[in-house]
Amino acid sequence: MEQLLQQIESLKAEIAASVASSQEELEQFRIKYLGTKGLVKQIMGEMKNVPVESKKEFGQILNAFKQVAEDKLAQLQEALGETESVDTKQDYTLPGDTIAVGTRHPLNLVRNQMVSIFKRLGFAVAEGPEIEDDWHNFGAMNLPADHPARDMQDTFYVQEATDASAAWLLRTHTSSVQARVMETQKPPIRVICPGRVYRNETISARAHCFFHQVEGLYIDENVSFADLKQTLYFFVQEMFGKEVKVRFRPSYFPFTEPSAEMDISCQICAGKGCNICKHTGWVEILGSGMVHPKVLENFGIDPEKYTGFAFGMGVERIAQLKYQVNDLRLYSQNDLRFLQQFKSV
Ligand code: PHE
Repeated sequence: MEQLLQQIESLKAEIAASVASSQEELEQFRIKYLGTKGLVKQIMGEMKNVPVESKKEFGQILNAFKQVAEDKLAQLQEALGETESVDTKQDYTLPGDTIAVGTRHPLNLVRNQMVSIFKRLGFAVAEGPEIEDDWHNFGAMNLPADHPARDMQDTFYVQEATDASAAWLLRTHTSSVQARVMETQKPPIRVICPGRVYRNETISARAHCFFHQVEGLYIDENVSFADLKQTLYFFVQEMFGKEVKVRFRPSYFPFTEPSAEMDISCQICAGKGCNICKHTGWVEILGSGMVHPKVLENFGIDPEKYTGFAFGMGVERIAQLKYQVNDLRLYSQNDLRFLQQFKSV
């Protein structure tokens, strides 16, 4: 025991006198004293030979010894760091390099906001494929092969077929996702379907061959048109503020009956009249209606028991009203001068 204490004392003196003028020497110091086979560990190994009544005292001495080695290591490290930085002439007062931080795409910002509003009402997000078969895009939605309303949506066909119902196409609306949800889930159903859709239109400031939609579907017992109106009214108030006015106009969609389009007071001119609202003070933002009984039947949902509403709107249109962007093409040209103006919310 006495011998051990003497050894510790002489090691302490040795440690105190140690120097390190390079990283290698510093590492040697660490290995010699604090490494897994270092002197600190070795001496700690002697603990087992110490009589029980002295264990506590000896333990404290050992801990202090270890601390001395660790403190010295830190001290050497610091000293070395300082001299090295002087050696390599690093100047810590120089300004840092700026890191380029990206911005979210304006359509994603708007889509995220739309999704979060509907989520608060209990809607879940559903997604589906962009290449669809005829059934999910048209047939199931009450648009059989010869239905004239197919012309409303100029379709890109991936694979045409003599029997139209065997064709493959780029989805023209995310109603196809609603079809897939009804196929696999039982009411109550409450989903929104955000996604990209395609239509064969000549590209101009006002039209594009692809755009983005958020469609919604709610099916349960006793769902009424009043629920539809209130849900959409809540949505636009959250999106555009409490002052926004809405109006519903009767419309036609094969998959809803009755159907209505919803207009909101023009957010650009506050109803005074401008190019966006074609001087009417109103802008159409969505199509909606009560799910057609035929559509429910197509998925084995009993229309006597369940009713539902559906709606669909374009993300570009909402973004246009929010950011006053008049040319749709800007959203897909990837011009950084345009994109960098949108900061995340
Ligand atoms: N699917 C329609 C469209 O793309 C929008 C819509 C959805 C209308 C649901 C009514 C109900 O134009």
